[in-house]
Amino acid sequence: MTAVTRRDTLAALTGVAVAATARAAPPLAPTLANAAARSGRRFGSCVSWSPPGADRGSFANPAYAALLTRDCDLLVAEGEMKWQALRPTPTSFDFRRADEMVAFAKAHRFAMRGHNLLWHQDKWLPRWVASYDFGPRPASEAARLVSTHIRTVVGRYGDFIRGWDVVNETVRPEDGTLYQTPFSRAMGGTEPLLDLAFHTARDAAPGAQLVYNDYMSWEPHNEAHRAGVLRLLEGFRRRGTPVDALGVQSHLVTQGIDGSGDAARLTPDWRRFLDAVTGMGYTLLVTELDVRDNNLPADPALRDPAVAAYTRGYLDVMLSYPQLRDVLCWGMTDRYSWIQGFEPRKDGAPRRPCPYDRDFRPKPMRDAVLAAFGAARVQAG
Ligand code: G3I
Repeated sequence: MTAVTRRDTLAALTGVAVAATARAAPPLAPTLANAAARSGRRFGSCVSWSPPGADRGSFANPAYAALLTRDCDLLVAEGEMKWQALRPTPTSFDFRRADEMVAFAKAHRFAMRGHNLLWHQDKWLPRWVASYDFGPRPASEAARLVSTHIRTVVGRYGDFIRGWDVVNETVRPEDGTLYQTPFSRAMGGTEPLLDLAFHTARDAAPGAQLVYNDYMSWEPHNEAHRAGVLRLLEGFRRRGTPVDALGVQSHLVTQGIDGSGDAARLTPDWRRFLDAVTGMGYTLLVTELDVRDNNLPADPALRDPAVAAYTRGYLDVMLSYPQLRDVLCWGMTDRYSWIQGFEPRKDGAPRRPCPYDRDFRPKPMRDAVLAAFGAARVQAG
């Protein structure tokens, strides 16, 4: 049975309206959300907040909102639900931007997932955490702070947001050990803190999908990161920590012009990793797909096809896992991608990491995502 997405419904209603004016309903455009739904999955993207009309990857930017509405069924806040956005002080929350984003998603019938309840690295916590006085009973004070945060955020959106990146990026990529922060030092270690976070989230939203999200990837030099994530996931299972899924961020990095060949070479080790994860009973998500177009010529006529082939090779592997149901890009257009600011190309050519270019025109990468969904085995239920 082919799932009927929000896109199908809107298009069908549009079709009815159009037919009423004596023209045949337009054929369903092959949108990414439709293609995902036909394989029993969802497709989405991150979205930001901005003042109305700003030139940002925001729901308040009509051009960007139109991209999301056409191609996405699922949204995630790029920054507005993080500690740094929500927690100006230890005793206050600022939900204004997140509330506006949730209101937009509800009004336009998007689903939404939450990101993130604890980005466990010093640099991504609010500044006040570093100088916070945990008092005479530091473990219980840290537990109070973190559990209050999670209960408050999940409690506010729990009826609408049905999946959460409970913990984000707590494995050090260089050696697979776990980051420490004032929270974990107060609690006597990172594992007790992470277990508290997931148990608190489970209590606050019993039906929600609880995710550990990280950027370990299939490229060379990710071996220690992958091994550290596997150890973390094994520990969760050993301690009975309620973790449902691994969020595979999928910030890919091209290796050269032969996108397909590189994808084929990277697949065996990557499958061993994914098999180990799913073998522990975890489901999978692609949470932040984009492609850092390294080792490629500046000319888009050469660069884009290589990015598309690499993306297709990656998604063919990922979509071969029935445990994978949600695929999200980290932005739909090159224009607003974080990568341009994070790591500009050495040749100065603008980055091209997303399905649409900076003028909102579809690129070969979008065709690759569409084709990957079309080729994927349909997942029922
Ligand atoms: O909103 C302020 C603005 O008021 C201020 O003028 C400006 C200059 O300082 O900063 C703005 O905040 C920035 C925010 O993005 C919104 O644009 C922060 O400095 C900046 O650090 C933040 O970067 C985000 C980053 O996460 C850190 O939160 C990126 O946009 C976002 O794409 C990136 O996303 C992460 C995922 O959450 C986790 N996985 C990796 C991914 C990429 O790094």
